[in-house]
Amino acid sequence: MWFFGHIYYAIQGIYMLNQERMPVHVAIIMDGNGRWAKERGLPRLAGHNAGMKAMKKIVDHSDKLGIKHLTVYAFSTENWKRSLAEVSGIFKLLVAYVKSDLKELVENNVKVKVLGDYSSLPGDAVKSLEKTLQQTKDNTGLQFNIALNYGGRDEITRAVRSIGEKIAAGEIAPSDITEDLISGELFTGFTQADVPDPELIIRTSGELRLSNFLLWQSAYSELVFPDVYWPDFTPEEYEKAIADYQSRERRFGGR
Ligand code: IPE
Ligand code: IPE
Ligand code: MG
Repeated sequence: MWFFGHIYYAIQGIYMLNQERMPVHVAIIMDGNGRWAKERGLPRLAGHNAGMKAMKKIVDHSDKLGIKHLTVYAFSTENWKRSLAEVSGIFKLLVAYVKSDLKELVENNVKVKVLGDYSSLPGDAVKSLEKTLQQTKDNTGLQFNIALNYGGRDEITRAVRSIGEKIAAGEIAPSDITEDLISGELFTGFTQADVPDPELIIRTSGELRLSNFLLWQSAYSELVFPDVYWPDFTPEEYEKAIADYQSRERRFGGR
């Protein structure tokens, strides 16, 4: 079985992905690190560490496939409810990832952006993120968006507040509020990370929900839910999810 599965994926990589229908923006809810660790009798942080390694491979593979935007959900506005040990462990791993990979990201022409208010993260995490944003800002290859302290409702609330302030200051009128204006005020908006809506959203681990991810931007995204836990999400699984996306008929309310 393993043997045949292997051949199937190898063929899929070469023949089944249609370069013309490659999504411009893939967004991923990297879920299942804790369960992956639990199944192995390991601490949850070992799962997050394995998750970082999986993420690195998916960043590389996105670049190889010619995807323009990869967004990963790394930490939600609700994840603060977890133990202090887990939360600080996740941010330590993030700092370590940036330290070991920044050079490679720069060399690979990857531009890193953060979605979410990262100013409330621990100081060393803020520092390494700012260094990463700064050193990759002129890169023109893959744009790698990390959703950190990100929540879709938080993002929409901030946008509404900002629009309210502009109206109060007399800069715009209520009749100026359009979908484009709202989109522009989001973390993904043209004045911020400047990311188009994702054609494809992948959530690993078998959970069938968005958990406050890209609520506005996901209006017409195709959703794929691989059963594997995030640390087991390989480039082969990634291609399988993209092949699934490419087999869908997108109608946008038309017929
Ligand atoms: C996803 O894995 C990573 C983060 C939310 C930071 P989880 O930690 O949610 O793993 P499970 O869902 O408990 O298995
Ligand atoms: C969503 O996963 C957040 C991230 C992957 C960063 P959660 O594990 O936090 O979501 P729920 O609690 O299962 O909905
Ligand atoms: Mg989870």
